[in-house]
Amino acid sequence: MTQLPFVTRIDNVNHTLEGADNFSETRLKDMRSLYRYWNSNEDDATLETIVYRVSRKDVPTEPGELLQCITEILPGDYHGEFFMTKGHGHKQRECTEIYLGIAGYGLVLMQSENGFRFEELLPGRAIYIPGGWNHRTVNIDPQQYLLFYSIWPANSGYDYEAVIKNPFQYRVFRDTTQGYRFEER
Ligand code: F6R
Ligand code: ZN
Repeated sequence: MTQLPFVTRIDNVNHTLEGADNFSETRLKDMRSLYRYWNSNEDDATLETIVYRVSRKDVPTEPGELLQCITEILPGDYHGEFFMTKGHGHKQRECTEIYLGIAGYGLVLMQSENGFRFEELLPGRAIYIPGGWNHRTVNIDPQQYLLFYSIWPANSGYDYEAVIKNPFQYRVFRDTTQGYRFEER
């Protein structure tokens, strides 16, 4: 299939990618195994809390094509651990990705057999996530949403098991004096 030229636009008002055709919302109930202090008797209202939204522009999942999306992570924490994405690796491990900060203040956690790294995600700052590095984004501003743009090969696939089998070495918690602090897993 031939992909024709098209345009998208970062919509700073609605916090979405204009032109996207795939929208998802991830709630606390979708992240049960991922938070350190998960309460198995959590109340329904808390379970329904939206943690992040993704709007993605789909293209054929063929080598050479690029996917793009906008992620909005809402401000908040669960028992002190900041709102974050589930995190994943790419099924095609060689596939690289770029994250560009649009609004807010976050951290991108990255982990591979070469260790753990993190980078600050700020407006205008681009983070290159090489193939083979699992990645998760954390909103460390308790007052404001975090907005970032991602672009990656369309044939990458998602490997969510990767971060369950091999959890990130550090978690990010709210801290009243420093803003945030790392806790070893
Ligand atoms: C795509 C990518 C991002 C994330 C998005 C949500 O390869 O890394 O677009 O998919 O920020 O995070 P996850 O996919 O971990 O729920
Ligand atoms: Zn990715």
